Amino acid sequence: MVQTNERWGSRVGLILAMAGNAVGLGNFLRFPAQAVQNGGGAFIIPYLVSFLLMGIPLLWIEWAVGRHGGQFGHHSAPGMMERIGRGRAWKYVGVFGIFTNLAVAAYYAYIESWTLGYVWYSLTGAFAGQSAEQVSHFFSAYLNIGSGHFLNISGPAILFFLITISINIYILSRGLAKGVEIASKIGMPLLLVFGAFLAIRALTLNAGEAGAVNNALDGLNFLWQPQFDSLTNPKVWLAAAGQIFFTLSVGMGTIQCYAAYLREKDDIALNAATAGWMNEFVEVILGGSIIIPIAVAYLGLPWIQANVGFEMGFRTMPTLFQNWGPFLAAAAGVAWFGLLFFAGITSSLAMGQPVMAFLQDEFNLSRKRSALTLGGILLMLSAPCLLLYEMGAFGEYDYWAGTFSLVAFALLESIAFAWVFGIDKGWEEINRGADIKVPHFFKFVIKYVTPLFLLAVFVGSLLKPEAGNWAAAFGSLFSGGGWPFAADSVIGTVLNVGIAEKRWFIDGMPTQIFILNMTRLLLLSTFIIIGVAVYAAWRRKGAKA
Ligand code: PHE
Repeated sequence: MVQTNERWGSRVGLILAMAGNAVGLGNFLRFPAQAVQNGGGAFIIPYLVSFLLMGIPLLWIEWAVGRHGGQFGHHSAPGMMERIGRGRAWKYVGVFGIFTNLAVAAYYAYIESWTLGYVWYSLTGAFAGQSAEQVSHFFSAYLNIGSGHFLNISGPAILFFLITISINIYILSRGLAKGVEIASKIGMPLLLVFGAFLAIRALTLNAGEAGAVNNALDGLNFLWQPQFDSLTNPKVWLAAAGQIFFTLSVGMGTIQCYAAYLREKDDIALNAATAGWMNEFVEVILGGSIIIPIAVAYLGLPWIQANVGFEMGFRTMPTLFQNWGPFLAAAAGVAWFGLLFFAGITSSLAMGQPVMAFLQDEFNLSRKRSALTLGGILLMLSAPCLLLYEMGAFGEYDYWAGTFSLVAFALLESIAFAWVFGIDKGWEEINRGADIKVPHFFKFVIKYVTPLFLLAVFVGSLLKPEAGNWAAAFGSLFSGGGWPFAADSVIGTVLNVGIAEKRWFIDGMPTQIFILNMTRLLLLSTFIIIGVAVYAAWRRKGAKA
């Protein structure tokens, strides 16, 4: 029988791995986009409140759930949830903790592979002398989008993707201390160096210098000028809470998994807080000081407000770097895409580890076999994201796995922890071996505030009305006009509210709605198959015992 006795090699290694787990593409690509789309300074306050009342408490919950499960030999969510909840049904809640990792990794590793490709293109000077249109067009050509064909097949994109998956699988197959931990010890410091270099260059960019038309600091002003009226805007709250989820990697099962390799009396209170604050530093300080200030300096705030999105990091940044002369442009390109790559890989490794652990603990597969199995599943699951990128498959993965499932899982988990396991035992669990005294106030927060906060976010995302206008929606409801679901609300998405063309095929060609429905079916089937795997694993073990 294969038993996992793996442990972290050192505390520094653990913290860097946990920080690497949290610090990811979300910090550098998603955060700036969310902040800009939600009004800059209007976004920051709900964001910080969400961090304190939901993010930090969830970190403590997840570290505690993980360390607890680890003592019983469970390093993935199904076994842990069974331990925390009372009754065997709770292990099926843990299916989320396998499902989201697989489905998010499938599209996340794809973006990660673009960053690898772009490091290569920056090194080889592919963007030198190119106009803004050419650089943007380069990106479309790289993904083979905009060609009018419904399948996006691009040699270079597929090649870099296969390399990225292979690197991930190789590192995971080396085991925790020799793989993930070493990768984090190399990747995180380099990321900080690259980030500091870019942030300093960005913040010292003045109008009139190196082709800049505005001061870079105008970008920071926009981001940091607080606007208190945003506090009453549910749309901004939903976006802020969603960003906190994604960036801290909570609601996924990755933190629990990493924490499961701790000993019973190892500190979690201080470790969790350290990794969480480190992520926030990288997100708001570094992540907020690169893309927005540089783009504001060259293109102005209105342009950014109209064009911001995660593709901007690829479509726009390489051109802007060209203003700094050929050498610095190449260096900035390598630093920017290299930073993204390190941020990405330390996160995708974190998504791989729970699946590895599930196969090792519950199916007794060896580490190598688990890694290869994971690689195979990822290749299958990512195929739709790559090939049907433009048809929206990629976006569906992000929506259902990367947004909805996180909230659903965290909600159930926080209830299990505070109400089923019980807050007194839970509090004891968080504080055992603690190197800091967690303020008592958080016991109350974990018991009441966090679950209610999560419930509000969950219900809010189910019902989110058109244009995020709740007042108008209630008006419409009471005047008999019905509830106007937003196209990106959960119910609106299921009902395909935003899509006018409801036919599945036109002239024998699949339509977008067909692809979206099939993608959902695929994700749902994946979830069910994992559920069946959990059932089978427990049955097998039951038969043996
Ligand atoms: N937190 C990572 C980011 O900011 C993404 C992530 C989510 C990683 C969930 C692991 C688990 O990009």
